[in-house]
Amino acid sequence: MQKITKAVFPVAGFGSRFLPATKASPKEMLPIVDKPLIQYATEEAIAAGITDLIFVTGRSKRAIEDHFDKAYELENELELRGKTELLKMARSVVPDNVSCIYIRQQEALGLGHAVLCARHVVGNEPFAVILADDLIRAEPAALKQMMDVYEHYNSSVLAVQNVPRSQIKQYGVVKGREWEKGILKLDGIVEKPHPDKAPSTLGVVGRYILTPRIFEHLEGIQAGSGGEIQLTDAIARLLAKEQVLAYEFQGKRFDCGSKLGYLEATVEFALEHPELKADFQNYLKTLKYPE
Ligand code: G1P
Repeated sequence: MQKITKAVFPVAGFGSRFLPATKASPKEMLPIVDKPLIQYATEEAIAAGITDLIFVTGRSKRAIEDHFDKAYELENELELRGKTELLKMARSVVPDNVSCIYIRQQEALGLGHAVLCARHVVGNEPFAVILADDLIRAEPAALKQMMDVYEHYNSSVLAVQNVPRSQIKQYGVVKGREWEKGILKLDGIVEKPHPDKAPSTLGVVGRYILTPRIFEHLEGIQAGSGGEIQLTDAIARLLAKEQVLAYEFQGKRFDCGSKLGYLEATVEFALEHPELKADFQNYLKTLKYPE
């Protein structure tokens, strides 16, 4: 079995739900307390053993490259002022054994297309895909849990969670039979179905481990839901040829692609932040909520 060392981060989307904040800066750089969403995602990948971070970027995304780059001026300044803790933090955004690779997706043609753009860098190896706006708090990290499933079954793994039927049309939705507790063998997947037609209430959240055969299917598919080339449609073809599993990870996921999910994550992460938690908890207690 091939060890997985590469993760693809599709970060070319417009982030239109967060306009005007995302007019000139990437939604993946929105911070939860003091760390951008994309860094939570890369830290999760690194905790799962990933050493090659492949970003599929687009227009107005330069800030992501800068964030993972060395910041000479900042580091000099912090060094001069003796701010060693902050210096350590700035330097540890990417550990030395990890490399960053950037690919431009010239047109935003969908998640499937973004993943296909990474084909020549991923090559003929299984790889991970992480959508940074799905922030998952879990121990061990969600992708690490999925790696364990991959290593056990040697097949593609999608992270899923139960979602209310009323929200099902925001997700790729799986159909399958339980293989063992929390693991399903899939026999279908559909992108953003109508709630009445959804095959289950298990929605895919933004974590995938995929075999390289997915690229052949991505090449062959037409635009699907929303007029976009959908990763889900290629997975539907993949699972007709080889085993694909869905895994109900242990942990809490925040949909930071929505304003409410973003705020929920901000509050919960602030309540755990070592410097902030006591003061923030006290502050919340003083709040009076409008009717
Ligand atoms: C994407 C995928 C969808 C998945 C979702 C998870 O949709 O296409 O299958 O369930 O991410 O967040 P998007 O949220 O980009 O519309």
